[in-house]
This record gives sequence, structure tokens and C-alpha cells, in this order.
Amino acid sequence: MSQASKGLEGIVAGQTAVAIIDEAGGGLQYRGYRLSDLTDHATFEEVAHLLLNGHLPTEQEYQDYLARLAALRDLPGALKSVLEQIPASAHPMDVLRTGVSMLGCLEPEGKDRNGLSIATRLVACLPSMLMYWYQVSHEGKKIDVTAGGNTIAAHFLSLLGGGAASATHQKALDVSLILYAEHEFNASTFTARTVTSTLSDFYSAITGAIGALRGPLHGGANEAAMELMQRFDTPEAAEKGILEALATKQKIMGFGHRVYKHCDPRSDVIKVWAKRLADENETGKKLFAVAERIEQIMRREKDLFPNLDFYSAVVYHQCGIPTPLFTPLFVMSRVTGWSAHILEQRADNRIIRPTSEYIGERNLTVAPRAERG
Ligand code: ACO
Repeated sequence: MSQASKGLEGIVAGQTAVAIIDEAGGGLQYRGYRLSDLTDHATFEEVAHLLLNGHLPTEQEYQDYLARLAALRDLPGALKSVLEQIPASAHPMDVLRTGVSMLGCLEPEGKDRNGLSIATRLVACLPSMLMYWYQVSHEGKKIDVTAGGNTIAAHFLSLLGGGAASATHQKALDVSLILYAEHEFNASTFTARTVTSTLSDFYSAITGAIGALRGPLHGGANEAAMELMQRFDTPEAAEKGILEALATKQKIMGFGHRVYKHCDPRSDVIKVWAKRLADENETGKKLFAVAERIEQIMRREKDLFPNLDFYSAVVYHQCGIPTPLFTPLFVMSRVTGWSAHILEQRADNRIIRPTSEYIGERNLTVAPRAERG
């Protein structure tokens, strides 16, 4: 009988005070605050402050925090030069991984720079990194990354669109950033904690986390979900296509979850925004109808529910965001959760080093090369 838990399912791998997923009780909470309370009454920057500094900011702290983030948006010239050399064909997640790594060479952790200050710097400048590369590689434009509104959502949308985005788009994006910010021991956060546990530096932990998030079973699912939805012009075509995919045992990206068994509470919140945006235009209405039909089929056929990635894709598409930028938006938000976990791991560290159950051969003899078959 195997002792190993495949995928570490059900294993409690450490303690945390950053977030709890309590499906039967209070739902998902960040540092004791219910997620719905945060999406209703806070901004992403307030949530970032909560995760990184341990408390919700006062009005003065909030204004100071916004000003600090805005002041930290600019990128060093050497980082811009690196970004200018990355081709348009690169995946934006690779761009962020490279950008964070380069920033770690230019602004290394040390006596002038601690983990918290690096976390704040990354929250501020990840949108700059992504959009500087995007505009230079796709449009040949070297943009001023310090421009744009005073929130992360407004900044990102303004660098993407070249001007202020609508208040609804800013709010929808802001809510999605709150929802994506933290989710206890998910694969990318656990990666960040594992790297941290070796006493490695902050940037290494974040680049490792970006790599883990990139895959379609984790953050990459929002892009894969969008690509799937775009294949269908009507709900009827979606129903046919999903049934065919399920018949050949394909996974439908944006559905299911390791920890949630009945629903992902984040999906209910983002679905409201997907519908609100869809009600404003015909293309959105069509996309939303396709999405809802896929949701119905997945519930009926597999008893599976949409996770956060599914309707986030519908929201991002309607905000005019290109699909390859969906998972990088996840990074811009989750960097707060990763950073909170890195700081927590450091505060009470022990190297993360599980054991394995060996299933290979034993005691073989090394034959001379000429005699090996
Ligand atoms: N589509 C079709 N079937 C599915 C799906 C899906 N999206 N998810 C799970 N299943 C089925 C599996 O095929 C499996 O069926 P079987 O027992 O008949 O073989 C069963 O449900 C259990 O699935 P596992 O993959 O073993 O579940 P696990 O807990 O290991 O994986 C995961 C969870 C990765 C989220 C999985 O549900 C999945 O691959 N979903 C699609 C990718 C996705 O949306 N990822 C985003 C996660 S949330 C986030 O990052 C914000």
C-alpha cells in the first residue's frame, strides 16, 4: 500500500496566518477578513497593504501607500534594455520571469533593501515591466511607464490602452486583483516558500513562483479558458464542443479545484462582473452566453464548477486585454500573497525537504560499457 499522497493532496505542509480556505465555514479569508467584505469595501491596494503589512491601512496610510507605489513604478535603464531585446513572440510570463530576475541583479536584496521593500517595489513595477515590453515589442513604442492613474488597475489599463480606461473596467480589474491576491498553499505559493526555506533571496522565490503559476493547471488556465470559449460562436456550438471534449477525456480549463469541492467562492464574485460588462455590449453578451452554457454542461456532466480563472477570462477579454496578458495579471496580484508567505516563512523557517517513497530498482551492478545492452 502506497504511503505517498500523489500531488500532496490532503497533506498539511505548514502553518500560515495569511489566508484560510474554509469552504464549510467563513469561506476564503485574508488575514481574518472575509473575501466578500474585501471586494465590497476595499481596493486592491488596501488588500496588498493588508497582506504585506498585516493590517488594513488607515486613510493616511492608504494615501501614502498609493503615493509610494506610484513613485516606485519606473524601471532602471538596464532593465528596459533587456526588455527591449525580448521578441514579441515570447510569452509574457517569460517576460515577467526574466524581468524580475534582472531586477534582482540590479537591485539585489541586502542591507539597503529588505524583503518588504522588494515586495512593494514589485507590486508597483510589474505592470511597468510587462507593458514596457509589450508596447516596445508589439508597437515599437518606448512608453513612459510612470504615467497612468493612481491604482494598479488604472496604471495597467492606461499603459495598455494609451489613456484612462472606463471606471467600470478599472473597478472590474481591481476586483479581480483582490480575488487573485492570495490562496494559501497553492502550487506557486508553495514553490515560493520552498525556495525561501533554503535561505535563498526574495527574487529567486518570486521567479520560481512565476514559473509554477505559468502552467495551465494553475494560473495559465485563464488563458486556456479564453481560447476554449473563443472557439464557439453560440451556446449550442459550445455544448456540442464540450461534450465532444469530455467524451475524449479532455480537461476543460477553468473548472475544478484541488481544495474546493462544491464551488469556488471567487468565481461567484467575478461572474457578477462578467455579466455586468456583458450587459453593456453585444459581443460581451455572446461570450457570456457561451460561458454560461459551458458552466451548465460541466455541472450537469461532471458535477464540476468554474474556478476563478473561468469568468476572469470573460472579464479580462471585455476589458480589451489580450489573452496572453491574462496570467501576467494573476502575477501582478498574487505577488502580494507570495510575498506575504515568503516573509512568514522567513519568520519561522525550517528547510522544506519532504521524503519520497522509492519505487525503483535496487542493488544493480555496473557492467562495462561494451557489455551493456
Ligand atoms: N475538466 C474535466 N475533468 C476534470 C477537470 C476539468 N477541468 N478537473 C478535474 N476533472 C476530473 C479529472 O479528470 C478526474 O477525473 P477521474 O477521477 O475520472 O480521472 C477528477 O476530476 C479529479 O481531477 P484531478 O485532476 O485528479 O484533480 P486535482 O485535484 O489533481 O486537480 C485541478 C485540480 C488541477 C484544478 C483540476 O481540476 C484541473 O486540471 N482543472 C483545470 C485547470 C484549471 O482550471 N486550473 C486552475 C486552478 S484554480 C487557479 O489556479 C486560480
